[in-house]
Amino acid sequence: MDIRVEQGKAEKYPCELLLLFSFESREQLEGPILNVDLEWKGFLSNLMKQGDFKGELFEHQLLHTHGALRAKRVLLTGLGKRGEFDLEKWRGASSKAGQFIRDSGIKQFAFPIWKFDSFSEEGLAEAFVTGLLLGTYQFIEFKTLERDKIKEIGEVVLLGETDKEIKAMNEGLRISKIISESVNMARGLVNGPSNTITPTALAKKAERIAKDHVINIQVLEVGQAEAMGMGAFVAVAKGSQEPGKFIIMEYNQDKGLDTIALVGKGITFDSGGISIKPSEKMERMKDDMSGAAAVMATMETASKLQLPLHLVGIIPATENLPSGKAYKPGDILKTLSGQTVEVISTDAEGRLILSDALTYSLRYHPKAIIDLATLTGACVIALGDYVIGLFGNDESLLKRIEEASANTGEKAWRLPLWDEYFEYLKSDVADFKNVGTRAAGAIIGAIFLSKFVEKIPWVHLDIAGPASIEKERPYIPRGGTGVGVRLLVQLLRDWAKGEER
Ligand code: BES
Ligand code: MN
Ligand code: ZN
Repeated sequence: MDIRVEQGKAEKYPCELLLLFSFESREQLEGPILNVDLEWKGFLSNLMKQGDFKGELFEHQLLHTHGALRAKRVLLTGLGKRGEFDLEKWRGASSKAGQFIRDSGIKQFAFPIWKFDSFSEEGLAEAFVTGLLLGTYQFIEFKTLERDKIKEIGEVVLLGETDKEIKAMNEGLRISKIISESVNMARGLVNGPSNTITPTALAKKAERIAKDHVINIQVLEVGQAEAMGMGAFVAVAKGSQEPGKFIIMEYNQDKGLDTIALVGKGITFDSGGISIKPSEKMERMKDDMSGAAAVMATMETASKLQLPLHLVGIIPATENLPSGKAYKPGDILKTLSGQTVEVISTDAEGRLILSDALTYSLRYHPKAIIDLATLTGACVIALGDYVIGLFGNDESLLKRIEEASANTGEKAWRLPLWDEYFEYLKSDVADFKNVGTRAAGAIIGAIFLSKFVEKIPWVHLDIAGPASIEKERPYIPRGGTGVGVRLLVQLLRDWAKGEER
């Protein structure tokens, strides 16, 4: 999809389709739709007066102009009640409009920007493009039949009138394109099956990103990880024929900038290992590298946006499979931190590989560590499939995350890390077990991770629910969602802004 900004008036602009929005109201029309209505001799206001278009949220009405306008068609899209409007609804509305236009087989449309209330043109343009690019994402890599029936929008023109508008829209477009394309890249990795998205493939992709965007990269083999003492990562990796990879990406090193470490769980397939999972829904476990995908996409975005921060992306990548070489319940592992872990379930593998990755991140002396992981089914039970479980040891970092969450619509909800929960992880034979009780499973997983970050401000995002979804949401199609990328990028942008001040 090619999106660009042009100077022009909606009521005079020749295009296949003109996209117009309206709030739900009986009163006066507002924004660019007003001038279009005038040009069209009150056609639109009459339509609304007669109740044929109400402006309800995501309501659509496709109209043919029959030469009354230079646009061949008009698509009206409802924004719902004015008082309930926010950028999250706006992203949803642009997505729904984009999906409607695409599914109608229309290849080109124009959209006049409309500045209202306290929303900036740049912010509105950014959110519009985000909704559009994320909402019309399709994973078609493996579809071979009837490829010609796959519909796509070719060209979108954002219309502005003043130079100031055009400048702001171009900036919003630039930023959203960078972020949204990275989110869609992450979705592609999550949707990709584990027979193509192996740890080796993840490492190759990370290397590609690093080459293209001036990021340093180092990929450790399992043997090297073993020599360094990563007993937990190695234990999980050794059951698989696919070689595990420990990936370290670094952006802006040695510049005296604030260091932030991003750690992503990269299990490219989680069978549970010897503690094998039931086969029902096991195919979903290809998404167990969603944290890794989010970290890679965030590194890419940060570099494209040239954020003035020192970022370290750490991705332990491996499969979790049963075999004659696999680790077993009862095994005692020595982690990179020196602490020992008694394996109760080989299906609690995420916290094991993350423990070594978290310890590894400490050598960079980061100001903050943020990990993303599809860590526990319990988190899905607790919060559902559209909310991130949020844990941390530092109030100000947690607040930063919550602010970014509110601004991006990537919902995150705090759960406690009280000492009492640690009791469940005490082991008779090692420093701790890798599994506690079923009750409070998400919290216990997070408590385990907390033992590997020492006193560094740290946040754990359990993305088991939202990483991939079965029921689509306004601008998130079914399947891999790329969750976490927009949240992290927002956090980093806010952090970088704070540093400039
Ligand atoms: N990758 C799973 C968690 C998961 C489950 C993500 C469902 C998405 C949907 C993780 O490795 C796992 O298996 N966790 C176990 C932990 C248990 C053994 C303590 C779980 O949630 O059952
Ligand atoms: Mn597991
Ligand atoms: Zn897992």
